[in-house]
Amino acid sequence: MTGKSVEDPVWDDRVVWNVWLSANWMPTVAAADEVHLFEALETGGPASAEELAERSGLNLHALKGVLPMLASLGFLKVHLGRYQPTEPARLYLLHDSPFYWGHAFSFHRTHTNTQRYVTALKAEMVDNKGRPVEAWETGQLSAEMARPITAFMNSHSMPAAVGVARHGDFEGVTRLLDVGGGSGCFSIALARRHPALRCTVMELPAVCELASEYVAEAGLSGRVDTVTVDMFRQAWPKGYDAIFMSNIVHDWDLETNAQLFRSSFEALPSGGRIYLHEMLIADDGSGPIASAAYSMLMLAGTKGRQYSAGELQRLLQDAGFSDFRVQDTYGHFSLVIATKR
Ligand SMILES: C[S@@+](CC[C@H](N)C(=O)[O-])C[C@H]1O[C@@H](n2cnc3c(N)ncnc32)[C@H](O)[C@@H]1O
Repeated sequence: MTGKSVEDPVWDDRVVWNVWLSANWMPTVAAADEVHLFEALETGGPASAEELAERSGLNLHALKGVLPMLASLGFLKVHLGRYQPTEPARLYLLHDSPFYWGHAFSFHRTHTNTQRYVTALKAEMVDNKGRPVEAWETGQLSAEMARPITAFMNSHSMPAAVGVARHGDFEGVTRLLDVGGGSGCFSIALARRHPALRCTVMELPAVCELASEYVAEAGLSGRVDTVTVDMFRQAWPKGYDAIFMSNIVHDWDLETNAQLFRSSFEALPSGGRIYLHEMLIADDGSGPIASAAYSMLMLAGTKGRQYSAGELQRLLQDAGFSDFRVQDTYGHFSLVIATKR
């Protein structure tokens, strides 16, 4: 941080996120064009993601990513949970329109992410060989791979970490387990903001080593430590009154997240809280555009997507949590909080 304050970035970083995430807009439109998604909604009539998956054979998980993106770009409108093409989409994106724009998408059709979206929409296997998600799923992450990934995450999470520590409600929390905590930037920011709080970064071994370096550099080794746990294969440590997960559920499908929430519930004492730090999709599936574009990034490279508060609430309730609430914390991010009663 070259000696500058890490406490209060003067501007939030939405301006950077918006540019960074815009790279996913065009590949989504090109993929929708490729699988004739606008025709499926025009000829079959308005449909929810579930109905469209049922009648078109397109994959539901992929549609849950693609439809909010197209809606937030202005190509679909949502009414009572059903999507239909807008007039601009009818004019410019239906293949038989005299104003069809799609021939100009030829360059974008070959884009890696367009191809991955088409594969996902057609419910074919997306090849994750050599990608981080493969290493995360197997728990086998090498030190060579861990360093650039952790630096990547630290860059995009550091401002939000300061923001959530400042605006999130962590009242009464004394011991926090930061599951999949990466560089430890959230634990560091939280410990800085709350002098009585002790945090533990739970990570794969190679990342724990790196997190310890970030924590030492922040001068917080006395209050932030690490624990090596493969969250899918090993027992989660107890003794924490809060479990925090930032950008974790967006890496995984609903079933895997249900498993993560059951593990959280099991590890927490009665009265313990779970915090999910995510960019949320609106409950009506209409966007917003940053969350939708982040969802497309996840669809391209992980097993997950961005979820709505409603989707997360259902999963948390199924795992046993109650007292569900949502707090907008910083930039595009929100906290979903629930309690084990
Ligand atoms: C998307 S990153 C999020 C990092 C950080 N929480 C943030 O918001 O910047 C996902 C993190 O989960 C960790 N992770 C993935 N699979 C894991 C596993 N099986 N057990 C423990 N941690 C895992 C990764 O090492 C990675 O740091």
